[in-house]
Amino acid sequence: MNSTTKTTTGNAAKGARSDENLNQLRLLPGRRYTSSEFAAAEWEQMWTKAWLLLGRESEMPEPGDYQVEEIGLESILMVRQKDGGVRAFYNVCQHRGNRLVGAECGGVDHFVCAYHGWKWGLDGGLEWVKDAEDFPADTCQKVRLAEIKCETFAGFVWVNMDPDCCSLREYLGPVWDLLQAFPLPDMRRYMALTTRVPCNWKCVHDNFNESYHVGVLHPQSSGHIDDNYKDTGFFTYNNGHSLMKMKSGRPARRGDKWSEPTPMLETLMHMWELNPDDFKGRPAAVREALQQQKRKLGPSRGYKHYEQLSDEQLTDFMHFFIFPNISASITADGCHFLRARPSRNDPGQCVFDNWFYATEPEGVTTPVVLPGAIVTTVPRGTDVPHEFIEYGSRSLGLGIDQDMSANIGQQLGFQSRGYKGGLLAGQENRVRHFHDTIDGYIAGHKPVRA
Ligand code: FES
Ligand SMILES: [Fe+2]
Repeated sequence: MNSTTKTTTGNAAKGARSDENLNQLRLLPGRRYTSSEFAAAEWEQMWTKAWLLLGRESEMPEPGDYQVEEIGLESILMVRQKDGGVRAFYNVCQHRGNRLVGAECGGVDHFVCAYHGWKWGLDGGLEWVKDAEDFPADTCQKVRLAEIKCETFAGFVWVNMDPDCCSLREYLGPVWDLLQAFPLPDMRRYMALTTRVPCNWKCVHDNFNESYHVGVLHPQSSGHIDDNYKDTGFFTYNNGHSLMKMKSGRPARRGDKWSEPTPMLETLMHMWELNPDDFKGRPAAVREALQQQKRKLGPSRGYKHYEQLSDEQLTDFMHFFIFPNISASITADGCHFLRARPSRNDPGQCVFDNWFYATEPEGVTTPVVLPGAIVTTVPRGTDVPHEFIEYGSRSLGLGIDQDMSANIGQQLGFQSRGYKGGLLAGQENRVRHFHDTIDGYIAGHKPVRA
């Protein structure tokens, strides 16, 4: 009895020691995702200091065209100027704080506040005040809308609420050059869905920052995406950005076996005049054959930008993470943008944007492969409208539905007293980089000038 008791105690003590060792490896405690205090620190120290991708240039082509985007506690108004530039302002009237613009987008000559009628110019200047003589002298001449740093790059409008921030180019560093290889400004929007998801915004980007889950959560992709981490490239850059290169155009290898090619891969072969029968028993060869066909046939089919792309860029997924909240899966033919924004007052919720942009070659109608392996030919010329949907009311695409269900499951787990923090594999290093960067901001570090 005594010896049994001793043994049990000994094992318990040993167990406690190994738990201690394990606990030292654990990162990302649940409170990072559930605590209002942590969310407030992120807002004050990070969201208001980082460059944020908010608008799309092509959606405001003419002077006076504007877009409004919500981010956390703020609403940001971006407007095309008469000189062709874009400026951004806090969407707040400087008389007594009314929200200046209610619509998501539109075109105007002036902004008129609905409360007392103050009229604001496109450049943020105050143009007209009712009963101006009733205000102290000069008041109206001096008041302007509160302007925010704003730059355009890759077809998008980026803003930074920190007046002392570095330039966008400095902020993006090598990612600036990497993105320039792709014709992002010329791509057209084929999908734009926004929904509110019951998980913290970081769950969404943790997920897109690793491919560890792909073979398990997305079994449908193993026939055209090779998710083996040993064949995947992981790169991290200053300021929290990162890149993951996943080989595509061939199935995943599981042990000694290749997965079966999916109908998706066969569709790609047909699109590029390859016969799937020629690749029976050697699916690994499809990727290189696709690269050669795209190189040979692409430019004459209108895909002029292929000439600028490397072989791997012709077939593979370049999964960029642009800190703090853009996950962009870019291929030769399109870009799947995923953005999660923090909820105004609930760390357990986020606003999730699911956008897909694709090239539209001159003079040809070619199928476009949308997320979820949907192949479509969409009428040319205009962007699809932006839709707000209730989460769960319809599919966001199979892969995204799968991702979101896992993110929601995690959020539930993060609230559990039984969750002791995450254990990250080497291949999840981009998740670690993402969180280390958030911690750096909270500790008061500013983005590095590259
Ligand atoms: S609050 Fe806008 S005019 Fe008064
Ligand atoms: Fe996923």
